[in-house]
Amino acid sequence: MKLSTRHLLGIKDLTKEDISLILSTAEQFKEVLQRPVKKVPSLRDVTIVNLFYENSTRTRMSFELAERRLSADTLNFTASSSSAAKGETLLDTVNNILSMKVDMVVMRHSASGAPHFLSKHIPAAIINAGDGINEHPTQALLDAFSMREKTGRLEGLKVAIIGDIMHSRVALSNIYLLGKMGAEVTVAGPPTLIPKYISESFGIRVEYNVKKALQWCDVANVLRIQLERQNQPLFSSLREYNIAYGINRRLLESLGKEIVIMHPGPINRGVELDSDVADGPFSIILNQVENGVAVRMAALYLLANRGN
Ligand code: NCD
Repeated sequence: MKLSTRHLLGIKDLTKEDISLILSTAEQFKEVLQRPVKKVPSLRDVTIVNLFYENSTRTRMSFELAERRLSADTLNFTASSSSAAKGETLLDTVNNILSMKVDMVVMRHSASGAPHFLSKHIPAAIINAGDGINEHPTQALLDAFSMREKTGRLEGLKVAIIGDIMHSRVALSNIYLLGKMGAEVTVAGPPTLIPKYISESFGIRVEYNVKKALQWCDVANVLRIQLERQNQPLFSSLREYNIAYGINRRLLESLGKEIVIMHPGPINRGVELDSDVADGPFSIILNQVENGVAVRMAALYLLANRGN
């Protein structure tokens, strides 16, 4: 089977079949990653550049590891130590890298739409590793993989996405993906961090009371306050955010039921999640990180056109 798209720019462009194909391919790669030799020769003849114009720990290492596990050749580009700092344009930088015979581009950029722009001007396949406040498709795919692994389903699953919805590309990619796969979504957080018409636009619920959202859901995907994207204060203080919207053990125990806790990282401990929850028995946060490698292997493999 093959994907319906040449690039992975966003979940918005994927079909339900594309998503299912990536998730089932990732299951096979997860099995490979349990073996003593965690490497397959699938992309031995493929060269991939990781083009990071914005900070990253997990996503970047996860892509690098996925590429190496597939035996691809990899190049790493960090904007702050490159000629981008000397004024070179994005398109010039990428065309120069591609002239060295690079086949695929994994890209993170602070400008929403940067990978979409590139896809119109270069021949290489592009994977969006996060563009501004738009999308982060591989994060939503690894979130879905982890939810399904833990609960056994996506169809009919009740997922609450809690926190800074307005500035989160993880939220938007998750909303698209969960909608396509038949899950129910509630977004929760302070009114100033939830876009006004999100409910009508996406057919999802909005809840300003975090406890009510937690009582409703099977899975809570908790997000960081993206302070670097807020140029004016949208809530009073981090301490007050923690009191009104933060999740702690006491709150979870008051629900009278078990829910799954997820977070894409980086966690701001003591703000959106207290440590007793982040490291507690309901958290699958490190499973998400583990699954990220298998999911990215699947995306790279399918985009390199290696599916049957
Ligand atoms: C997220 C990102 O960069 O969009 N992190 C990640 O990729 N795991 C979320 C965040 O920065 O809060």
